[in-house]
Amino acid sequence: MKALSSKSNNLSGIVKCPGDKSISQRSVIIGSLLNEDIRIDGFLFAEDPLSTLNSLKKLGRDIQIDGDIISIKNSKKNHSSRKVECNLGNSGTGFRLLSGLIAGEGINAELSGDESLIKRPMNRIIKPLNKMGANIVSNNGFAPLHFSKSELVDEFDYEMPIASAQLKSCLLLAAISSKMNLSLYERSISRDHTERMLKYFGADIRTEKVDNGQNILLKSGGSLQQKDYSIVGDFSSAAFLIIAALITKESQILIRNVGINETRSSLINILKRMGANIKILNKEICCGEEVADIEVFSSDLIGIEIEERDIPKIIDEIPILSIAASFADGKTLITGASELRFKESDRLKAIEKGLDKIGIDYDSFEDGLLINGNSNHDLMEDICIDSYGDHRIAMSFLIAGLRLNANINVNDCKNIDTSFPNFFECFASIGANIKRI
Ligand code: S3P
Repeated sequence: MKALSSKSNNLSGIVKCPGDKSISQRSVIIGSLLNEDIRIDGFLFAEDPLSTLNSLKKLGRDIQIDGDIISIKNSKKNHSSRKVECNLGNSGTGFRLLSGLIAGEGINAELSGDESLIKRPMNRIIKPLNKMGANIVSNNGFAPLHFSKSELVDEFDYEMPIASAQLKSCLLLAAISSKMNLSLYERSISRDHTERMLKYFGADIRTEKVDNGQNILLKSGGSLQQKDYSIVGDFSSAAFLIIAALITKESQILIRNVGINETRSSLINILKRMGANIKILNKEICCGEEVADIEVFSSDLIGIEIEERDIPKIIDEIPILSIAASFADGKTLITGASELRFKESDRLKAIEKGLDKIGIDYDSFEDGLLINGNSNHDLMEDICIDSYGDHRIAMSFLIAGLRLNANINVNDCKNIDTSFPNFFECFASIGANIKRI
């Protein structure tokens, strides 16, 4: 599927932020570890969370969808002794988190994924899980992964070599489902939804700050308590709306119900340093996560240097931040972001190729970009951009088109359905000229 965007001013209106993709996946996995039934609302019915949900069903969980509500009948857990085959599609989070659960429960299973997922590195989870006692065989560090029956050790200490919430959550899920005590060290803090959700359900988990990082200590003896769960909106999806309103003229929008957990929303502080006019309203706590409404006004932006320690907290927002930086006056420096090369595409390369097409000047490094932004930049001839099959690249360059006089065509936009299934309807509702073609 292709899509096209063209110049748009005066974006206005109120939109509800779609459910958080990371939290949706965690809610069904952790929800299936309780002893009693649980109801979940606000689930993101997008391809990635649905791949995780369907894989859990294959693993014997009784999960039902009734309108917007997900019910998990934990009284009816049914472990298969036969090998279970799960396909996680495009979802790295589903793949890595379920690997932790499967290793922890010692299930006989094979996990695979789509063309992009089978090229993403899995040694980061295989090595520590096998050290914990799992029995995983891979295709040279890539999917498919074959899990054979195993029993994990009682205690495990691990220093994570990379800042990755997927790795951290995989190990926490292996520990909680096998009743292991786990001590993890992460050198820079990544999104902490798993820790918050485990705590919400009563797990004995705490953190200790150490320099820029932290120790995470989980004692896994007790059982998780029954409570219903509401999922807040996805900050990473809201980021596309926020930057669309900032870079278009005379815009003012209100996004309701956005998760603003500080390990996810550092983009707000970065944009404010760039001169953005953004207001956070009606802050509340929902199931252990901060949530608020975000009001955004068109703003003149300036380039800034982004601190490396902020990178894990804006890891999914860098493609759309690059678009804000393109229309900001001055240079924006992003370094320490080499993990972007291992996402749904090599995102640094995909951003560079897109910036070449829209005519923005930049320097590239192995771990980042220096974008030479220009608020007067324009383009007179229509162009066609490749999304490299990556939802966040597709959405970012469609939003760049709102600022330009020429039309931007983006190829291969089907993957937008993995994280933001109502993207086109949502942008149409605030007056943005973005449409499927
Ligand atoms: C995620 C963690 C991040 C992020 C991904 C979602 C999660 O990946 O990029 O979109 O839900 O834990 P890494 O752990 O690979 O950094």
